[in-house]
Amino acid sequence: MKSLLFQLILVPFVILNFVNNVNAGITSRFVREEWPSVDIPLDHEVFAVPKGDNAPQQVHITQGNYDGNAVIISWVTFDEPGSSKVQYGKSDKNYEFSAEGKMTNYTFYKYNSGYIHHVLVDGLEYDTKYYYKIGDGDSAREFWFQTPPMIGPDVPYKFGIIGDLGQTYNSLSTLEHYMESGAQSVLFVGDLSYADRYKYNDVGIRWDSWGRFVEKSTAYQPWIWSAGNHEIEDMPYMNEVTPFKSYLHRYPTPYLASKSSSPMWYAIRRASAHIIVLSSYSPFVKYTPQCKWLEEELNRVDRKKTPWLIVLVHVPIYNSNEAHFMEGESMRAVFEEWFIHHKVDVIFSGHVHAYERSYRISNIRYNVSSGERFPVPDESAPVYITVGDGGNQEGLAGKFRDPQPDYSAFREASYGHSTLEIMNRTHAHYHWNRNDDGKKVAIDSFVLNNQYWSSNVRERKLKRHYLNGMRMIASS
Ligand SMILES: [Fe+2]
Repeated sequence: MKSLLFQLILVPFVILNFVNNVNAGITSRFVREEWPSVDIPLDHEVFAVPKGDNAPQQVHITQGNYDGNAVIISWVTFDEPGSSKVQYGKSDKNYEFSAEGKMTNYTFYKYNSGYIHHVLVDGLEYDTKYYYKIGDGDSAREFWFQTPPMIGPDVPYKFGIIGDLGQTYNSLSTLEHYMESGAQSVLFVGDLSYADRYKYNDVGIRWDSWGRFVEKSTAYQPWIWSAGNHEIEDMPYMNEVTPFKSYLHRYPTPYLASKSSSPMWYAIRRASAHIIVLSSYSPFVKYTPQCKWLEEELNRVDRKKTPWLIVLVHVPIYNSNEAHFMEGESMRAVFEEWFIHHKVDVIFSGHVHAYERSYRISNIRYNVSSGERFPVPDESAPVYITVGDGGNQEGLAGKFRDPQPDYSAFREASYGHSTLEIMNRTHAHYHWNRNDDGKKVAIDSFVLNNQYWSSNVRERKLKRHYLNGMRMIASS
């Protein structure tokens, strides 16, 4: 009797301890000596204007349609409009095709933008290297890009994830480390240039310098854009009150291809991933265009074609940093149930200038009249990852809430980027790479199991197990 009593007390204690240990999050004690959080001076070589009369600059590409066999190529000319023509082909210097696009420009206070060209190049072959040429005469410039494989359930693909980049020496370190990662496309989680930290004409000038700063990557592989608060640029003191004016003129998105009514939210399919881009700073409550669109887009997701469902949104839904704490709560209240229901694999965010990863948790049982008040473990929930650690001039968000909440698995306040390497329909390898003074160092990494296929495999195994059991009983 005594030993039974002892066991009754001991067993729950051991189980509880085990559960606690499993969920114990890690707050990294790593402290790095950071370079000053100041923007690189404009005369630095990273912002160099390409040589030649009216030479194209700030070249960047993004996916141009739903399934990835199109790109939008963008660039800026300053002295005169020049042509909005792209010549392209499958071998170097042999440009057998051409495409014409559009030119736009805008003013911001007394700053006049250059001539901003956007050209849709479509009908491309999948998994093919294309060379392209833009600009006129001696000032023409040449680049290349690789189209993704046709969408399919087991197509491997490596994405990079960068957020809140800015244009400091820390930003440069992040960009250079990212470029060593071998990733094929960037999922950018908002806050691009931090040009809004400037006043008057310097805002436009710092958008231009940022475009030149990232060109060594953006001209060669698509960056999938989402907008952050630093893109809003509501500056009434200079009579600039049109939200996202610079961003929308400079960074087009293929929103029409996913039946969206705004470039601020849209979706693409690439390799084996379906990527949904949301806007934290556009209306998203019930009946708004973004909300209606998301409901429809989630229903369009076909996990048999694109097993990986990824969401990008600037403001993190789960964050345990003092910076921007609870700012994602309004979107959580509206969308979290859908994220669970549709088995979203991972949600990447920025905004908080630190790194954090959550456990699979949800808080959908809570409502204002009853239910659990705290997030609880939920195998159907996505992993939430904050990668707002690109290195902008605002510096790091070094103050995490103490104690670390149960939903937080790993957090560290230093600069870096992430990669998500999809292997097949069931597994992807995830890494967060801290910049760490010049060396690429993987600090947080894990195998991400696909929410749709892994649970299907589990169910199939259980079913098989059950049927085998039944057969054995019947034959005995
Ligand atoms: Fe932000």
